[in-house]
Amino acid sequence: MPIVFKKDTNQFFLHTDRSTYVIELLDGRIPLHAYWGKTLPDMPPLVTWKSSFPSMFLAWDTGLEDVDFITTGCLPLEYPVFGSGDMRDPAFHAQFADGSRVMRLEYVGHTVTDGKPKLCGLPAIYANADEAQTLEMHLKDELSGLSVYLLYTVLPAYDVITRSVRVVNGGTEDVRLLQVASASVDFYDSQFDMLNLPGMWARERQIERRPLMHGVQRTDSKRGASSHYQNPFFALMPSDTTETAGEAFGFNLIYSGDFLASAELDAHEMVRATLGINPYDFSWLLTPGEDFQSPEAVMVYSDAGLGEMSRKFHRLYRDHLLRGKYQHGNRPVLINNWEGTYWDFTEEKLLEIAKGGKEMGCELLVLDDGWFDNDRLGELGPIGDWDIVDKKKLPNGLKGLGDKLNAMDMKFGLWFEPEVFSMNSELYKKHPDWCIHVEGRPRTKWRHTLNLDYSRPEVCEHVIKTISDVLNSAPISYVKWDYNRNISEAGSKGLSPERQQELRHRYMLGLYYVMETLTSRFPDVLFEGCSGGGGRFDCGILHYMPQIWTSDDTDPEERIYIQHGTSMAYPAIAMSAHVSASPNHQTFRATPFKLRGDVAMAGQFGYELDPAKMTDDEITAAKEQVAFYKKYREVVQLGDLYRLVSPFEEPFAAWEYIAEDKNTVLLYTFVINSKPYVAPKRVKLQGLDEAAVYVDEATGKEYSGAFLMQVGVARERTADHLSEIAVFRKK
Ligand code: GLA
Repeated sequence: MPIVFKKDTNQFFLHTDRSTYVIELLDGRIPLHAYWGKTLPDMPPLVTWKSSFPSMFLAWDTGLEDVDFITTGCLPLEYPVFGSGDMRDPAFHAQFADGSRVMRLEYVGHTVTDGKPKLCGLPAIYANADEAQTLEMHLKDELSGLSVYLLYTVLPAYDVITRSVRVVNGGTEDVRLLQVASASVDFYDSQFDMLNLPGMWARERQIERRPLMHGVQRTDSKRGASSHYQNPFFALMPSDTTETAGEAFGFNLIYSGDFLASAELDAHEMVRATLGINPYDFSWLLTPGEDFQSPEAVMVYSDAGLGEMSRKFHRLYRDHLLRGKYQHGNRPVLINNWEGTYWDFTEEKLLEIAKGGKEMGCELLVLDDGWFDNDRLGELGPIGDWDIVDKKKLPNGLKGLGDKLNAMDMKFGLWFEPEVFSMNSELYKKHPDWCIHVEGRPRTKWRHTLNLDYSRPEVCEHVIKTISDVLNSAPISYVKWDYNRNISEAGSKGLSPERQQELRHRYMLGLYYVMETLTSRFPDVLFEGCSGGGGRFDCGILHYMPQIWTSDDTDPEERIYIQHGTSMAYPAIAMSAHVSASPNHQTFRATPFKLRGDVAMAGQFGYELDPAKMTDDEITAAKEQVAFYKKYREVVQLGDLYRLVSPFEEPFAAWEYIAEDKNTVLLYTFVINSKPYVAPKRVKLQGLDEAAVYVDEATGKEYSGAFLMQVGVARERTADHLSEIAVFRKK
């Protein structure tokens, strides 16, 4: 059984296939964190906090009511609460009606159930009764009647534990929640590195790894979106952990809004990791009888380095986060008009692009920004009026265009930005108070838009109706859901004064409601998430939309870094990647067509250019690329990724995908910068069967698995931007 409760020692053992997590109830009352790591049998001698802290033990014997503060200051707590002798960052902080914030959450009971309950209104990992087990531990503050339920779901095959917290006001007075972290883990060690994925528009999710220093190291978002700037993912690991060896503890929050991820190295040389909704500008009024559900944190344990940690995240997300018809691939190769035309297009031009794309092998045309009524070209167009098509550009409307595309056997995809509107839209004229704002105060416009207030049910219903009407009006089989601004001047006309600080989280609940409704109403439509490129690349969005536009930066050199960093937590099947024109529109760098194709074929493949501007050689190469991708896409989409060489360590990158059946292996190699007179790079593969023979499809050469892994294959690095995708077939 994955979850075992030992009554005699008051311990919970949460077992995955290769790891164990132990919670111990101090005096049967206070949950302590006892262990997280490699599998630990639940047989004597059992780990206890007492054996870890022998000198502290005496202090506790004096009784819980009068605890020595030094002792509490270094106790490994399972869910630290504000207002005790524990001086580190709390996970939970709430205020009672009398203004006080001190409480004691004590264990009162637990249940263990097979499977995994849904989290009300929130995206989450899902699992059947035979795939997971869930522990719900009930903690209660006797004096106030406030209950906190800690939820742990164990997915043994993935070495994953998911955690979330439900708070129930069982008292008779209001309680104001000030912080409800989803997970907190107190490690007994201090020698950790922290790995984060910071970035910016057009250079999202770069890898940053640094040793923990004393104090709190935090990354967060205060933008109303998970953001380009940080990602709700981080990993902690001993400093000698590498890509292929050592322990790694991965944390990821299934949430698209403001998060806080922190690691505190304290004076006792212990580390507390915390992950959850950002307490910044958050408070939540819980009236008697009401409950609050936190987002879910995913925790992955690996004892074989960062590569294995990532593969566990990838498998989990492919099998238990993504949903719908396109969960396992089967997605069209597309051509998007954005970088080809920007706002300047006509129906005729779009059909020409579609024809060019079709010739290359593409299966779908995406019409990007600017198709709605747009008197003035470009960013000043009235965003928000999704029911008014620009008849000058599209005289036959969306249906006319869609029918023509379908007639040439091309599917039709459409761009929306449903969370914003501009002041020159009809929608704004009708509902000026539907934006996030405070009356009489300034408002920041981004790309000339204001943020629709998704905390208001009537706004959500309006968006659902408008988008549904458009999707019903034309043969649309793909939607690109963009969001090009963030929340500023947070205030809502729909919320009472005492609930204003609920806006940011209520916005996310509204967004998830809209996404859930639309994606289940249109199950055949493939939805792609986007937020100024990869500004909301997170598990929350992925639960509704199985792919996300990874970055507005389509320069293949930049993309190598972005896709490498993104792969720390997210699978290739989720990463949209397109071939665009050269010189690149974001970096102005010229790159070979082959490199652009090879990099994009490591993700969810497509094109974003005007075929009329391509040379004949490029058209021929594109045909080969599409044919190659269609043949091998399942290996990329569903296979296991091995990051062989990191561009963050040398001007070269290598990725390997092994098919689910282990018979096909794709090896991607990229030279970023050449150096004169350097020997070819030996790229050593991983994860192969040592004794098996693998045939290089292009050359017919045969290699043993051992040779490929120990000697490797040679790749010239005598010129910038050399790239190759090799296919090895197991004999
Ligand atoms: C964002 C997206 C782009 C494109 C433009 C349209 O930047 O990331 O792909 O859709 O908006 O304005």
